[in-house]
Amino acid sequence: MSLLLDTQYLEGFVTEEELARCAGPLAAAGEALAAGDGAPKGWRTLPEGFPEPLLRQLADTGRRIRESAEVLLVIGIGGSYLGARAALDFLPKRPGCEVLFLGNSLSPSALAETLARCEGREVAVNVVSKSGTTTEPAIAFRVVLDWMRRRYGSRLRERVWCTTDPSGGALRSLCEEEGFGRFEIPRDIGGRFSVLTPVGLLPVAAGGGDIAALLDGAREGQRRYGGPACLENPAARLAAIAALLDRGYPVSLFCSYEPYADSLCQWLIQLYGESLGKDGRGPFPAAARFTTDLHSLGQYIQEGRRMLWETVLSFDPGAGPALTVPPLAAGHDGLDYLTGRPLAEINRAAMLATAAAHHDGGVPVLLIEAGRREERTLGELFYFFETACALTGCLMGVNPFDQPGVERYKQNLFRLLGKPGC
Ligand code: PA5
Repeated sequence: MSLLLDTQYLEGFVTEEELARCAGPLAAAGEALAAGDGAPKGWRTLPEGFPEPLLRQLADTGRRIRESAEVLLVIGIGGSYLGARAALDFLPKRPGCEVLFLGNSLSPSALAETLARCEGREVAVNVVSKSGTTTEPAIAFRVVLDWMRRRYGSRLRERVWCTTDPSGGALRSLCEEEGFGRFEIPRDIGGRFSVLTPVGLLPVAAGGGDIAALLDGAREGQRRYGGPACLENPAARLAAIAALLDRGYPVSLFCSYEPYADSLCQWLIQLYGESLGKDGRGPFPAAARFTTDLHSLGQYIQEGRRMLWETVLSFDPGAGPALTVPPLAAGHDGLDYLTGRPLAEINRAAMLATAAAHHDGGVPVLLIEAGRREERTLGELFYFFETACALTGCLMGVNPFDQPGVERYKQNLFRLLGKPGC
């Protein structure tokens, strides 16, 4: 099933007339994106053009890692880990390695505690960094290499894979010297658009995910959303909605009623935050898990400052666990009217009740019916949001593919720590 946009809770906030007025600028944004001279736009054609030999190599390496390791340590930050984590948390658990993420902070506790979880278990490592010089993963990689070398000695090279830039980059030379396995991040694909490259696919394969099906979903996404940016194209329609709402609602909240989509919402925060937040513009992206956060943020969303709009990701429970509310002999809790009803039905009722309440409270709500919890759905969603986000940037007049503000902090950190030449 392909995803559907349910716009009923946008009524009163975004009208069809306003959307129709976006048609011209939207088409121009689509053309700008397609032309995009010099822009890193390889992600747009990646699913259809994905090389079969590379797919086989990734699947084989994933299988080898599963057979030889109980834990895969994935070292990376930002676009170099959020997509893999989103996929692994989203997909139902399959036999595979436990994938643990490192190098996404400078916390000594996080590093030490993750390595402690590896004691007594067979470990493999995938370090992911396009530049090879980002401080957090580079430090974590040093610590992990040291630990692995003591553990595996000369067998180290069978257990480490680097995913990095195809030509330059510090990581690439180290990888060549040490004889580690290597995968490339295409030069024309930036970090936050790289989930469907080896950056995301190798950890997913090692974790037991079906990367061929993930790419099939993305191909479906390319067919449905990669064409002309007209209002019939749901990704383009979302871009127009986002650009219209940006005028009065500067906070864009991504939410879901399934904890397995928490990391997907974190991936969306990075995609939208780094792509659109520049030149003093762009929505502030945030995430919430409902119904959990209705008991912490719910009051604010319903009645606080009117500044946010919601994108709700809804999934078809499909073949998920068929839990129902069991009977209770004395019926003390007043829930007898729910006895025998599926939890999935109650969860959906909570979503519809909340969407209506938030809409009535002045919050524009867009529901996305995304399909089942499986690889195809996720592949399509990745492509859908990458397209929608890039088009929103073009509509808003910002470059969705750079991140000059991230560089500023990196340079300051180098100076503070006394890096020579900074
Ligand atoms: O989206 C991006 O480009 C960034 O978030 C990068 O992925 C992040 O800064 C990590 O960079 P690198 O892969 O070079 O270590």
